[in-house]
Amino acid sequence: MNKQFYITTAIDYVNGQPHLGHAYEKIVADVIARSRRSLGQEVFFLTGLDEHGQKVQQAAVAEGKTPQAYCDKLAADWQAFAKKLELTNDDFVRTTDPRHKEIVQAGLAKVYQAGQIYKKTYSGFYSTKEETFLTEKDRRPDGTFDPSYGEVIELQEENYFFKLNAHQQWLIDYLAANPTFVQPDHRRNEVLGFLKNNELEDLCISRPAARLNWGIPLPFDKDFVTYVWFDALVNYISIAAAHGDPTVLSALSPSARTHPSPLYLWPADIHVIGKDIVKFHAVYWPIMLKAMGLPLPKQILVHGWWQKDGAKISKSTGNIVDPIAVIDEWGLDAFRFYVLRELDIGPDGNWTDAGFKSRYQAELANGLGNLVNRSLSMLKRYRNGVVPAKHDELAAAAAKVADETRALLKQNQLQSALQSIWGLVTRANQYVDQTAPFKLAKDLAQAKRLDEVLYNLTETCRVLAVLLWPFLPGTAVKIYAQLGLTGTPDKLDAATWGGLPAGRKIGEPAPLFPRKEDR
Ligand code: MSP
Repeated sequence: MNKQFYITTAIDYVNGQPHLGHAYEKIVADVIARSRRSLGQEVFFLTGLDEHGQKVQQAAVAEGKTPQAYCDKLAADWQAFAKKLELTNDDFVRTTDPRHKEIVQAGLAKVYQAGQIYKKTYSGFYSTKEETFLTEKDRRPDGTFDPSYGEVIELQEENYFFKLNAHQQWLIDYLAANPTFVQPDHRRNEVLGFLKNNELEDLCISRPAARLNWGIPLPFDKDFVTYVWFDALVNYISIAAAHGDPTVLSALSPSARTHPSPLYLWPADIHVIGKDIVKFHAVYWPIMLKAMGLPLPKQILVHGWWQKDGAKISKSTGNIVDPIAVIDEWGLDAFRFYVLRELDIGPDGNWTDAGFKSRYQAELANGLGNLVNRSLSMLKRYRNGVVPAKHDELAAAAAKVADETRALLKQNQLQSALQSIWGLVTRANQYVDQTAPFKLAKDLAQAKRLDEVLYNLTETCRVLAVLLWPFLPGTAVKIYAQLGLTGTPDKLDAATWGGLPAGRKIGEPAPLFPRKEDR
């Protein structure tokens, strides 16, 4: 069996509200997953939820629920959110799943046996709100700690630590030798810079169960639970193990029962994450994997953060974009289009309602929507909806864009691929204006020319549906249906010019992106 193309997203904190940032990351991963499938690869796409920790425990208590019941209710909302975004994820991990906990414990046991975990007494400052230890370095110039840490107490406590420090040079060498391990380049340079200029401190991976019990017990000391990152990051391998991945199983549970139909997933091809969690993925995670005897993921792909109207997205200030409300008002594909077209993977982005409306109007309604609607309406009106004989006037332009799109998708250049595809939309709209089929239709002597023009336009719409499928799946399917084609335009091979057979009768044209006033 072949190894699948394995792509993951960060797992969201279950107690947060799904917002623009979460939606963006999941859509980016979904477009990459769909693109690879369209290119003919077998893909496994994983997303899910991070459910342990003190905040969840406290929120559950405040609602008079058990933490599990509290998580179950929120998880249902997050799963509905994934459906709303039409994510094509193959599994949905929750860190409270027994299949996940089992692998976290197996991983910890292995690392402990390998002598990479030790116990020591910590004494110093601790933020109960952020569940984190603070050092003198965290003090502000006036000596206080940032108010976001809440109450800071002095604490003396035993905990388990994972040896990071001993692996620092190994990681520097690995990053230097593997320039695409962290992408884009400036993120890789940041990580290398950080590693070269700071000495890594060993990572505290436990909390006493007496203080925090909503976590996975350490397999070698039941008085402690696993602290977040040694739990959360492991989702990427625990789900591979749950599907019988032989690489993970042989490293972590050699005695595991054999799986009837194992998937070959690990190492992951891409972890898609936001810029705030690079250190965990590019520093802690590789060292954890090394200690567990597992290969490293091929790439960590880091996206930027969205703001709204130039300011931080924040529930408390009310500066939010509610993806569900936008989708309900404008449609999922309008939302997917805006975030992917507006922001390349890497830099930070800024959502404005005016920018959203302007792209909707110019690029979707007047660009793609108008092209498809007028092309198919003219075919209906002038040729009773029957596709004329093949003609190749726009074939070269379409082939060029299809080749470009294919190449860009292989490099995860989603924004550039959309730009290229819109080049074809614009070209075809110009073609309508230049050839003026509405004039040709008035002159019987121009019947053959009109046939040619109508074929070129209709076939361009079909090619566009194929190219757009990873980005705007609903729209692509609608275009296919309006062309009278059955099935889904989900294979890029179908973008080859001439796929539309002469003599076929198209379906009913209908606006893809109605103007707001028409709704
Ligand atoms: N639970 C951890 C991740 C564990 S991964 C093993 C976490 N959760 S989170 O809910 O806070 O964030 C989930 C993802 O959403 C992260 O990749 C984060 O960068 C991303 N975003 C959160 N806010 C964002 C924006 N405003 N813009 C873009 N992405 C943002 O961190």
